[in-house]
Amino acid sequence: MSTRIDDLRNEFKKLFGTNPDTIVKGPGRVDLLGHHTDYNDGFVLPVAVDRDVIAAGSLRDDNKVVVNSLNFRTTSEFALDSIERDEVNTWSNYVRGMLKFLMESGIELRGANIALHGNVPIGSGMSSSAAIEMATGCLFQTLLGFEMSGSDMALTGQKAENKFVGVNTGIMDQFISRLGKKDHVLYIDCRTLDYSLFPLDTSAVKIVVCDTSKRRGLVDSEYDLRRSQCEEGVRLFAQWLPNVKALRDINPADFEAHKGKLPDVVRKRAEHVIYENERVLASRDVLTSGNFAKFAHMMDASHNSARDLYETSCFELDAMAEVCRKAPGSLCARLAGAGFGGCSVSLVKAESVERFIEVVSVEYESRTNLKPSLYVCTAEDGASVIA
Ligand code: GLA
Repeated sequence: MSTRIDDLRNEFKKLFGTNPDTIVKGPGRVDLLGHHTDYNDGFVLPVAVDRDVIAAGSLRDDNKVVVNSLNFRTTSEFALDSIERDEVNTWSNYVRGMLKFLMESGIELRGANIALHGNVPIGSGMSSSAAIEMATGCLFQTLLGFEMSGSDMALTGQKAENKFVGVNTGIMDQFISRLGKKDHVLYIDCRTLDYSLFPLDTSAVKIVVCDTSKRRGLVDSEYDLRRSQCEEGVRLFAQWLPNVKALRDINPADFEAHKGKLPDVVRKRAEHVIYENERVLASRDVLTSGNFAKFAHMMDASHNSARDLYETSCFELDAMAEVCRKAPGSLCARLAGAGFGGCSVSLVKAESVERFIEVVSVEYESRTNLKPSLYVCTAEDGASVIA
């Protein structure tokens, strides 16, 4: 990390002629449980990972923001009083949207010079977008010293994503990117935004993220379709159980009693969400007792439910999960993020990680003709000052 920080500082100096006042990071994430439950007011269990966007910045005397991406080797400039979308440097829209909604929430901003560098793989389902949003929020909070809770910062990032970038996602990615903690998983109640941390000792068991190299094709339209199918489920259930405002409000017994009246697709979507919520809730005790085998079993069940009921998997993700489950030292495999491509995540015994990577790389490529990328990840702190 320190050479990356040094490189960013040097680049900043070359670009702007001064040292940055601060350097912060916003991490990517991987969810261990809680697939498509966040926008159903449900429960999720992600970790922030050691792949992140780092941002160096200094305030300016005017209201201009000049932001350079070291990855794209381009600069995007805008004035804080007229923030529009940049259709060329689309990466800058995450910065623009974040600042727009910080101001809309009443925060007074000033112009700044910024240099960014990210190593969250883009389009792989590790949420490089939340990483850049939370790095931006944390950078301005550090430079200006304003008060804002972690939850409010995450909600501001979600607004940027939904209303500026135009992707209708839930709260999970920004929340974990802001509030994650080293060596912990974060349990989030996506309705109340209550959260708690559970220790995740990765000395004996490693988190391995396996990028299928299949880019997430239909993700936007299919994501919206899943949301509307869930809303349809809520509408139907509310006729029988008036207190139901979201799928989160339906317990398994009520679901089983009424499921015969649901259209088949709606039944499958609701069944996934309701039982996935049950898995996340139950996982807290399992994590507390350190029972990795049981936790891993829940992760496998989560993938199978996404594949069969929520239908968010694809040929490549299923191939990856099958290969990973059979590889040396593997405890489990499940798709991560939105699905439809991107990555899966496995827990792997530490002593077998090298063999696991070798075997998965060869076997996956022979089944799909795609070269995967595998990342052994640690659970890290959320957005914070690093230099
Ligand atoms: C994407 C979205 C999240 C969440 C997941 C699925 O990552 O950004 O809000 O809905 O998909 O669990």
